[in-house]
Amino acid sequence: MLKTALHFSHQLLTDIVEKGDTVIDATMGNGNDTLFLAKLVDKTGKVYAFDVQKQAVENTATKLGTAYPQATLFLAGHEEINQKLSPVEKIKAAIFNLGYLPKSDKSIITQEDTTIPAMKAVLNRLLPTGRMILVIYYGHPGGEQEKNAVLNFCSQLPQEDFSVLTYQFINQKNNPPILVCVEKK
Ligand SMILES: C[S@@+](CC[C@H](N)C(=O)[O-])C[C@H]1O[C@@H](n2cnc3c(N)ncnc32)[C@H](O)[C@@H]1O
Repeated sequence: MLKTALHFSHQLLTDIVEKGDTVIDATMGNGNDTLFLAKLVDKTGKVYAFDVQKQAVENTATKLGTAYPQATLFLAGHEEINQKLSPVEKIKAAIFNLGYLPKSDKSIITQEDTTIPAMKAVLNRLLPTGRMILVIYYGHPGGEQEKNAVLNFCSQLPQEDFSVLTYQFINQKNNPPILVCVEKK
């Protein structure tokens, strides 16, 4: 069967992330991607994870337990990537899950004003063959605006430097998520 956007995002990460790599989970939420990335990079790698909600950081810390010291959790917006990471630190991959935290406050959503600067910070740090992946949920108020801004930004990236892919089921109800993968050449 064709993979969901979420499963395909993990496939795209598994394809390139190796033990020892440095990666970013830009929207920690309940920590599913943070855990997934921590397993891929293993103890010799690093995962930097961001979220603006204390609950998200706590849920992720609980999920990770003490077994993944390679993960650093920031109670901070992803727009602070350049404040939190050393200026010389390059990354192999980053993932954004845009939208709101399921079963939580639906008014706390990712927004283009902070998402786009964070994407720029990631792209400046991506290693060759590295990937920035976005899974865009957009069925909620404000989601459509962010989706359009993200797609517009990605479609204008120079093809000499980046390959950009979108993946979406186009005959499904209820706004299925759109996956975007930006690969640095
Ligand atoms: C769709 S959820 C992420 C789901 C997550 N990947 C998981 O495995 O559960 C989106 C998350 O983005 C967070 N968020 C909103 N604005 C943010 C920002 N500026 N920086 C980082 N995270 C933000 C929300 O608090 C929410 O937890």
